[in-house]
Amino acid sequence: MAIVFMFMSLVAILYASSFACIQSSSRRETSEWRDLFVGKCLLYKQDYNSSLLCNTTIDCSQLWSKVKTAVEYQPKCNFNNSAYEDLVTASQHFVPENKFLFWENVYPFVMWYSNRGHKYYTISDTLTGYLFDNIEWCGNSTEADGIEKYPRTCPGYELGPECQKSAQSVFWETASKFYARNAYGDVYVMLNASISPAFPTDSYFGNNELPNINGTKVKKATILLVHSLDDPVLEKCSGESIKNLMERFTAKGISPSCIDNPRDVQMLMCSENPSNPNCNMWMSSGAKRSMMTPYLICLILIKSLNIFV
Ligand SMILES: *[C@@H]1O[C@H](CO)[C@@H](O)[C@H](O)[C@H]1NC(C)=O
Ligand SMILES: *[C@@H]1O[C@H](CO)[C@@H](O)[C@H](O)[C@H]1NC(C)=O
Ligand SMILES: *[C@@H]1O[C@H](CO)[C@@H](O)[C@H](O)[C@H]1NC(C)=O
Ligand SMILES: *[C@@H]1O[C@H](CO)[C@@H](O)[C@H](O)[C@H]1NC(C)=O
Ligand SMILES: *[C@@H]1O[C@H](CO)[C@@H](O)[C@H](O)[C@H]1NC(C)=O
Ligand SMILES: *[C@@H]1O[C@H](CO)[C@@H](O)[C@H](O)[C@H]1NC(C)=O
Repeated sequence: MAIVFMFMSLVAILYASSFACIQSSSRRETSEWRDLFVGKCLLYKQDYNSSLLCNTTIDCSQLWSKVKTAVEYQPKCNFNNSAYEDLVTASQHFVPENKFLFWENVYPFVMWYSNRGHKYYTISDTLTGYLFDNIEWCGNSTEADGIEKYPRTCPGYELGPECQKSAQSVFWETASKFYARNAYGDVYVMLNASISPAFPTDSYFGNNELPNINGTKVKKATILLVHSLDDPVLEKCSGESIKNLMERFTAKGISPSCIDNPRDVQMLMCSENPSNPNCNMWMSSGAKRSMMTPYLICLILIKSLNIFV
């Protein structure tokens, strides 16, 4: 327990010092990133479902060396496409069946919903994704150690045509491909109904994951079409882009289905915002039930007493 707390404080301190109010002017030493990386890796092994890593030997320092090797001295916009394969392979671990959750345009909600693997595993609930989630990085050929010290100047992962292969985009592409290849059992895809099209073909899911989902290992795909409580619904399960996605699953031999505004999603959103008018439904039925119950019990008691009188 003390050790867990220590790691948590360590990670918290590192986050606070290097990320909480990071600005384009903030300098990050490579040693800070290394400490954060190795700290997160140890924390994951300790804190996430540790039975997942039982039959894998993952050495956090060794993973860091692979990151260094992949990134150092690499150009900002012409990153080597295969540089992360070794790292991503070395960080793979077992994910329970029927727990793979793909998504597009619903971060951070999907991270709350997946609940650190208790409900599902998004890519960022696997070690591979967790280590790089919410971090910016890239190489710099003129730095002595080849790593950029001002990560805010890195191109990021959502790129335009003028900068197509960055340290971050190539990482997420590689990790997404591996994550999708490993999927088995029933899989889930959470898409944002307030964005049209809800299934954007040109996206991490469309480009890297969907083509790599293996129809021999995956039997069923359930599309969860979600929207925030006050956001408009621009596409439903009957919409064109969803039909297109379902056809692409069918073509792989995977049986697709789609749920508009899944009940558990709406309940979770309402749990954070119960006074929202869209939550009255849940509120009033719950309130009614709790008021009805003692009343009904009294009624039944009176009735049964009547029988004996
Ligand atoms: C790892 O362990 C899980 C059970 O926790 C098991 O189902 C799985 O097959 C194992 N994977 C390998 C590669 O041994
Ligand atoms: C890209 O990375 C791979 C794997 O590390 C390496 O084998 C290959 O030589 C690299 N390609 C270039 C052009 O540097
Ligand atoms: C859907 O996308 C909109 C616009 O980007 C965003 O504001 C909203 O939070 C997203 N909904 C969910 C559930 O993530
Ligand atoms: C942890 O993973 C095992 C499979 O390795 C699974 O049986 C168990 O339910 C998981 N625990 C939690 C809390 O997700
Ligand atoms: C590498 O870092 C140096 C020092 O911060 C900076 O002047 C230079 O612009 C960077 N190079 C690239 C390619 O970003
Ligand atoms: C899909 O999975 C099957 C069964 O595990 C495997 O034999 C096959 O090679 C996989 N296909 C691809 C393209 O990886």
